[in-house]
Amino acid sequence: MSKKEIAVIILAAGKGTRMKSAMHKVLHPIGSRPIIDHLMEEVEALNPAKKIIVVGALKEQVEEAVGSDVDIVVQIPQLGTGHAVDVCRSHLDGFTGDVLIIVGDVPLLKHKTMKSMINMRRSADNPAVVVLGFRPENTKTYGRLVEKDGELEAIVEHKDASDEVREINLCNSGIIAVDGHHLFDFLSKLDNENASEEYYLTDIVKIARAAGHSCKTVETPDEWEVMGINARTELAEAEKIFQNNKRQEFLESGVTMLDPSSVYFSYDTEISNDVTIASHVFFGPKMKVETGVTIHSFCHLEGAIIRQNASVGPYARLRPAADIGKGCKIGNFVEIKKSQIADGAKISHLSYIGDAAVGEGVNIGAGVITCNYDGFNKFKTTIGKGAFIGSNTSLVAPVNVGSGAIVGAGSVITKDVGTNDLAVTRAKQKSLEGWAAHFRKKQGK
Ligand code: UD1
Ligand code: CA
Repeated sequence: MSKKEIAVIILAAGKGTRMKSAMHKVLHPIGSRPIIDHLMEEVEALNPAKKIIVVGALKEQVEEAVGSDVDIVVQIPQLGTGHAVDVCRSHLDGFTGDVLIIVGDVPLLKHKTMKSMINMRRSADNPAVVVLGFRPENTKTYGRLVEKDGELEAIVEHKDASDEVREINLCNSGIIAVDGHHLFDFLSKLDNENASEEYYLTDIVKIARAAGHSCKTVETPDEWEVMGINARTELAEAEKIFQNNKRQEFLESGVTMLDPSSVYFSYDTEISNDVTIASHVFFGPKMKVETGVTIHSFCHLEGAIIRQNASVGPYARLRPAADIGKGCKIGNFVEIKKSQIADGAKISHLSYIGDAAVGEGVNIGAGVITCNYDGFNKFKTTIGKGAFIGSNTSLVAPVNVGSGAIVGAGSVITKDVGTNDLAVTRAKQKSLEGWAAHFRKKQGK
C-alpha cells in the first residue's frame, strides 16, 4: 500500500432496537469477542492514520471497549448514514487521504477486502468512490448497485427502488471508500428527499458521477463477510459462520475432531497439530492446547494451557490460569482453576483444585477438594512431587503436602504434611461383630 494515509469511519449510531438489549449492538460477542473488536483488528491491518466511531446512545460502553486512539463522535439525532459521516467533518479537517466508511455491525469483514477497495480507489481511473458490493441469495432490503459500462452510476435504496432496479442482485454492503479530497464536498450536496427522509451516504455515488468522477465497485464473493447484525437471529447466524470457519481452519492445520459441528472455539483459541477433540467441547477465551493432547467429550475450557500429550475429560472444566503439564490426566468431573499441575500428574475423578501447585507425578484420588476459600480470602495449596492424596480428602488451604507424602483417604488436612510422611485424620474404624444381623432380626426381617 502506498504512503497515502487512510482514515476509517465506523458507523454505529443506529439504535439497534431489534437486538432488544441494554448493551450496544457492536459489543455483542461472536466467538467470545465483541463485534467491534473483530472489526477493529481487521481495520488495524490497514494501519490507518485515523479511526473514528460514530455513536448515538450508549457512548460510554463503546468508549470503554475501544482503544484511546479512536475518536468517538456522537451523532444525535441520527439523520441517516450520510449525516453520520458528516458529523466527523471537524475530525478530518484537511485530511486528503482515503476515507473508508464501514457499517459497524459487520463482524466478519476481512482486511484483505478493505485493502482491495483501497487499491481500487488508488487505481488508474482514480475513482472518487469505491463501493463494496455482493450478490446475496436474498436481496432483502439492501441498496442496489446500478452499473453502466464498468462505472457505478448510483446506489438506490430498496425503499426508493423501482421494480426494475429491485431485479438487480448486486447489493451495497454499506462499506465505501471515498477520496478524502472530495468526501465532505459530496456530503454537502446530500438531501433527504427520499422514502426514509434520511441523508443517505449512498447518494454520494450519483453526486460524484454528476461531477464527472469515476465510481467503482469491488465485489466480495463471500456473502457472509458483509452480513450485518441487526437482531439476535443474525448474531446466531454470524456465530455459526465464525465457528464453521474456525473448525475448517483447525481441521486444515492438523487437528482431529470427531464432530466438528459440536466444538466451539473462541476467537483466540490456539491448538497445535495432532490434537484430538471429541464431541461437545467448548473453548472460552485464552485457551492454548499443545500437540498430542486428547480432549474427551463435554469439556468446558477457558483461560488454560494444556501441555503436550495430556488428556482432559470427559466432563472436565478448566478455568483461567489452569496449567496442565505434559502427559497429565485430568478426568471426569474435575474442575481446575488457577493451578499449576506439573508433568505426569493425575487427577482422574470428581475433584476441585483451585489456587494450587501440584508436583510432578502426583496422584490425586477421587473426590479430593482444595478448600481454597474461607468466604473472604483465597489461600494456596502445594503438593510436592510424587505425593499421593487419598480419595475424598479435603486440603484446607493454606497447606503444604511434602513430596512423596501419602494422605489417607477421607482426611481433612489442615496442617502441613512432611516429605514422605503419612497423614490420616479420619476417625478409627470400629466393627461390632454380627451387629447388622442382630439389628435386622430386631426389626422383624
Ligand atoms: C445501509 C445502506 C444500504 C446497504 C445496507 C447494508 C444507506 C442509506 N443504506 O442500509 O444501501 O445495503 O446498509 O447493510 O446507507 N447509522 C448511523 N447513523 C445514522 C444511520 C445509521 O450511524 O443516522 C449506522 C447504523 O448504526 C448502522 C449503519 O449506519 O451501523 C447502517 O445503517 P442502517 O440503518 O442499518 O442502514 P440500512 O438501512 O441497513
Ligand atoms: Ca443495516
